[in-house]
Amino acid sequence: MTQRKGIILAGGSGTRLYPITMGQSKQLLPLYDKPMIYYPITVLMLAGIREIAIITTPEDQAQFQRLLGDGGQWGLRFEWIVQPSPDGLAQAYLLAEDFLAGNPSAMILGDNVFFGHGLPQLLESANARTDGGTVFGYRVSDPERYGVIDLDDQGRVSGIIEKPAQPPSYYAVTGLYFLDGSASQRAAQVTRSERGELEITALLESYLAEGILTVEKIGRGFAWLDTGTHADLLDAGNFVRILENRQAMQTGCPEEIAYENRWISAEELQARAKLFSQNRHGAYLSELIN
Ligand code: DAU
Repeated sequence: MTQRKGIILAGGSGTRLYPITMGQSKQLLPLYDKPMIYYPITVLMLAGIREIAIITTPEDQAQFQRLLGDGGQWGLRFEWIVQPSPDGLAQAYLLAEDFLAGNPSAMILGDNVFFGHGLPQLLESANARTDGGTVFGYRVSDPERYGVIDLDDQGRVSGIIEKPAQPPSYYAVTGLYFLDGSASQRAAQVTRSERGELEITALLESYLAEGILTVEKIGRGFAWLDTGTHADLLDAGNFVRILENRQAMQTGCPEEIAYENRWISAEELQARAKLFSQNRHGAYLSELIN
């Protein structure tokens, strides 16, 4: 079976979060007790993906590498790719073409946080579809900020529109895209939009036109959190804090998933726990072993 590969798109200018992103990448900012990028990494891990390309700006790559290394600490392999300028989400498939080598992929935006019971099952069903693509629709109060799903009379998806002034539905397309091995070829056909970007919606439209795009709606018991504004960032951090404190369980913990998947041994987990012996995270990891 062909192995699905992961992409984390963690570039961009982060201008909406200025001044805090003037000296640091947005995806390295903390969401309560972890750097933001931990959350999308763990989503790919839950999908069983171990080979992951991380795309960053040229300036920020070294900082990401300092934090994440080669992925071996979590039984993963990271490939580092630079995006010279933020030319659009679909460009990721061109930059990662050699890495993907025609394999199916799951791309997640480095600032997307998913939380919900049943997430592994949701990922599993998308993973099982190796032809065509799967995206996830989530009901939001402010669809005009996102790629929005247009539905026909029968409730079928008829289009995906990027930031429409008049949103045709409340359903936003989340930043998690499962695409088949043709994604890079298709991305090469995408032309720049009016705002000068290679839009992900244009790439998705090419799947949609052939009737091979599945849109899975994510239900109301699920959280898809945004970190687009200063307030969103604080809300997302508080959400994680409330959940973790209430349940005494972590969300977005790569060590936990790696250990459960048997990608790292108890000794390797212990070594990580030792690294964090000064805080709650270390105690949490030690408890996992016991
Ligand atoms: O979060 C989901 C939404 O993400 C989708 O609903 C939209 O269809 C999609 O276009 C995107 O919208 P955003 O307005 O959030 O896109 P933004 O330009 O803010 O970029 C999203 C993330 O990707 C952000 O963390 C920066 C990063 N990025 C963005 C671009 C354009 C890159 O790494 N490279 C890029 O070229």
